[in-house]
Amino acid sequence: QIQIFFLTNLPSLLVFLCCAEEISRAEFPDGFLFGTATSAYQIEGAFLEDGKTLSNWDVFSHIPGKIERGENGDVAVDHYHRYLEDIELMHSLGVNAYRFSISWARVLPRGRFGSINPAGVEFYNKIIDCLLLKGIEPFVTISHHDIPQELEHGYGGFLSPLVQDDFVLFAKTCFENYGDRVKYWTTFNEPNIYADMGYIRGVYPPGHCLEPYHNCSAGNSEREPLLVVHNMLISHAKAAYIYRERYQLKQGGSIGVVVHAFMYEPISDQECDREAASRALAFNIAWVLDPLLNGDYPPEMYRLLGENMPKFSPDELKKIKGSIDFIGINHYSSLYAENCSYSPSKLGCQAIKGFVYTTGERDGVPIGEETAIPRFYVVPSGLEKLIDYLKTRYNNKPIFVTENGLSQMDQPEERNRVLLNDTKRVEYHKGYLASLAQAIRKGADVRGYFVWSLLDNFEWTNGYSIRFGLYYVDYKTLCRIPKFSSKWYTSFLSYNSQRN
Ligand code: NOJ
Repeated sequence: QIQIFFLTNLPSLLVFLCCAEEISRAEFPDGFLFGTATSAYQIEGAFLEDGKTLSNWDVFSHIPGKIERGENGDVAVDHYHRYLEDIELMHSLGVNAYRFSISWARVLPRGRFGSINPAGVEFYNKIIDCLLLKGIEPFVTISHHDIPQELEHGYGGFLSPLVQDDFVLFAKTCFENYGDRVKYWTTFNEPNIYADMGYIRGVYPPGHCLEPYHNCSAGNSEREPLLVVHNMLISHAKAAYIYRERYQLKQGGSIGVVVHAFMYEPISDQECDREAASRALAFNIAWVLDPLLNGDYPPEMYRLLGENMPKFSPDELKKIKGSIDFIGINHYSSLYAENCSYSPSKLGCQAIKGFVYTTGERDGVPIGEETAIPRFYVVPSGLEKLIDYLKTRYNNKPIFVTENGLSQMDQPEERNRVLLNDTKRVEYHKGYLASLAQAIRKGADVRGYFVWSLLDNFEWTNGYSIRFGLYYVDYKTLCRIPKFSSKWYTSFLSYNSQRN
């Protein structure tokens, strides 16, 4: 009988023996930040309340056809009115940090053409105070894709150098009002995606795009995405300069930038595809990080784009080089990279993208499990590889994983219960955390990990059709319902309290 028991149960026994090893919080350094992340437009709602004016996203999302199912962030998940409940959710998760962003149109509704909105300033004061009361470190993004529409409409937003002074004023307002309590600042979330989606693909405001993407507004050029990132980098540099001169010593915080960072693998062993993979990394990630850490755009970009690359003045260069204390990465996926310089008609094969064609499949086999968002695949080992790349290229600069998470498609109402039992999300996080722990063991200086997202929310062009949350949101009642993943995160995080 014993023999039969072992034979019939062998497969599960083997699975148990090989995979029982669970990722544990103990594998991360002391003081490591574990949190969740959100952004203002995606969760707050209250889009015209208490003195807030319209942002570029308020306007864009109201243009018919721009957002799936015609949705918008007018109400979002009503975090503006439910922030206390949401902070309570975080407290019950056991996180020690929370990454959120400040709505520019709430705090400085008209940029430098108007005055500070006291109610807007107060809202974030309340959030910060409540977080600290609960032992949760605020990790603040100053600008996460949303800017006051007046600046967009008035002078073209980040296409114009005029935005730099406006951003500096906004950042100063944040340092001045919140810097006594906020120790982690990032000026921008994903400048590379802001440029890619807003000025190459045309699916984020202001909706400019390049051939061969369709629905282009007329008159766009390859210079636009380059200029947008350029103005963001200079805006960051000027704000960080002021932070370091006037506030950092007194307030004792640090400042960084968050970059959207997929990992790219060569699609074949051929030299040209290996070069394409390194160009993909340069044209997506180093485009933002090289200037901030090495003081100029990547050589890979100069080689292809030459005179098209915008130039930094000597004063800008002085301010930009070394202007971040840490790198923030939003990491979700890996893709294959293929050299396409001989077939530039392929979708996405442009000079501005380094003549690299990126895809999630090789010979019909996906690089990892597909998720609800096209081109987002589950490839946990990619995080370790990405961190190795950053460690080498940037001399082991401290890194925070500012976002990592799994998307699932909204279901017809009666089937949404399936989403509550999100075992896939749990496996996703376990896999990526194990990969992260491995990178740390090999010596990378990684200091934090944030799950995207605390709760389901407005996923930009996809509206509410994509769910990323540890908490499910019922969009009719706005009730927050814990998913299995929230329980898993709590038990993962509770390691410390068990130890103490
Ligand atoms: C990165 C962005 O920062 C965030 O706003 C977005 O919702 C997630 N990626 C998921 O796509």
